Amino acid sequence: MLIAGNWKMFKGPEEARRFCLELRDVELPLDVDVVVCPPFVSLESAVQVLAGTEIGVFAQNCHWEREGAFTGEVSAAMLRELGVYGTIVGHSERRQFFGETDETVARRTAAALEAGLQVIACVGETEAERDAGETESVLRRQLSVLEADDNLVIAYEPVWAIGTGRTATPELAHEAHEIVKSVLDVPVLYGGSVKPENARGLLARTVVDGALVGGASLELDSFEAICRAASPS
Ligand code: 13P
Repeated sequence: MLIAGNWKMFKGPEEARRFCLELRDVELPLDVDVVVCPPFVSLESAVQVLAGTEIGVFAQNCHWEREGAFTGEVSAAMLRELGVYGTIVGHSERRQFFGETDETVARRTAAALEAGLQVIACVGETEAERDAGETESVLRRQLSVLEADDNLVIAYEPVWAIGTGRTATPELAHEAHEIVKSVLDVPVLYGGSVKPENARGLLARTVVDGALVGGASLELDSFEAICRAASPS
């Protein structure tokens, strides 16, 4: 079971440091892998504070070239140098607002894996796509550019559930995760308004291998509660 906190554009270096100091002192369930994904500028303080713990630090994106004239981008090699363990790629906010495509997601994923990073690659349909009955075809298209890998995890994040408080029901998440798993035999996280109140129901599904948590990962209490909900013990 993997619980990853995607901080998005929250928590600068100082706030990240303080949060990680507190997180380090929390007794987290041993059977749950816990990861935080701070913004680039806060990665270093998170890595420093969480060094020697079981808590991993992931970036939120990563470029496919090692270095070059790519203003605003960061490479997998640079992340590795910092002690970062993995990265998210293809988040729907990047697809919606920053022109990320299936093609660029594929390139970022391949390069990150090649460099030895773990990857959480995000897929998910918009509300309009779901209403049009296109969920399965959208997921298949988004996944078609990826290949199974021991270090690859998929996050199913229905766009209509992100930051809206409208979580997918466990049944609906189950259906979507089965589609993902029929294409790629890798762990699949659910993301989209995961909260302490709904985490257990979602995570109880056999095809749900963890959660990618946005808003509720920003507060220690709610993040801890979700990590606990992920542990059957
Ligand atoms: P929320 O948990 O805030 O809905 O965000 C989900 C998400 O996008 C995680 O990557």
